[in-house]
Amino acid sequence: MNRFPRLRFSSIVGLVLICTGLTVAAAQKAEPAPITADSFKCIRDMSPVRGFYVSNLNGDLKGTLAAANATNGAVYPPGSVVQLVPGEVMVKREAGFNAATKDWEFFELTITPDGKSTIRTRGFVDVVNRFGGNCFACHVKARPEFDLICETDHGCDPIPLTPVMIKAIQKTDPRCGAPEELTAEEATMLKALQAAMTAKPSAS
Ligand code: HEC
Repeated sequence: MNRFPRLRFSSIVGLVLICTGLTVAAAQKAEPAPITADSFKCIRDMSPVRGFYVSNLNGDLKGTLAAANATNGAVYPPGSVVQLVPGEVMVKREAGFNAATKDWEFFELTITPDGKSTIRTRGFVDVVNRFGGNCFACHVKARPEFDLICETDHGCDPIPLTPVMIKAIQKTDPRCGAPEELTAEEATMLKALQAAMTAKPSAS
């Protein structure tokens, strides 16, 4: 009579603890990890696709690459990360997250010369970059089969960056540590771009 109630009480406590543990574990499994500035790393460590880079936060790089390489466009799988330049990111969220943006979340990062990055702004239809351009307003012009991915020929308004400038920006992502060597043309273009950016903001 003395020992039984105590035993039963501790078993109940044990069971409750196990159940709570299981519920927490299940919740953690269902909810993908929160997206922070640290979710995005050196652009050149991502997988190159033509002029841009991709990765997948949920481990489905294969699915992301398949979508990016589909000749006639495709819907990117959840977790897909797409970047053309270090400071602007598109992330495909879970299905149903935001119908208007086809579940893409737009991010603009602030990256310091020593490679530290913070999220300057993030969200869906109303994210505006530091040059006053609304990400969604441009990207929504991509023909429907391209899932809001612009490249140079999917129907979006162009950005004022030439392929040489883009390459130079990718090679000098401060998050990568040492920059890759620039060709003479890339170095000249990068200098011109930096001068233009400090002189007058463009609409990219
Ligand atoms: C003026 C229109 C415009 C604005 C504003 C704009 N983009 Fe883009 N974006 C483009 C175009 C056009 C390309 C393709 C350029 C190229 O490949 O040379 C592009 C490329 C990209 C890519 C590479 C994949 C792709 O679509 O080709 C990502 C990722 C991206 N932009 C994210 C953003 C984010 C995030 C913002 C806002 C913070 C933004 N963009 C604002 C037009 C725009």
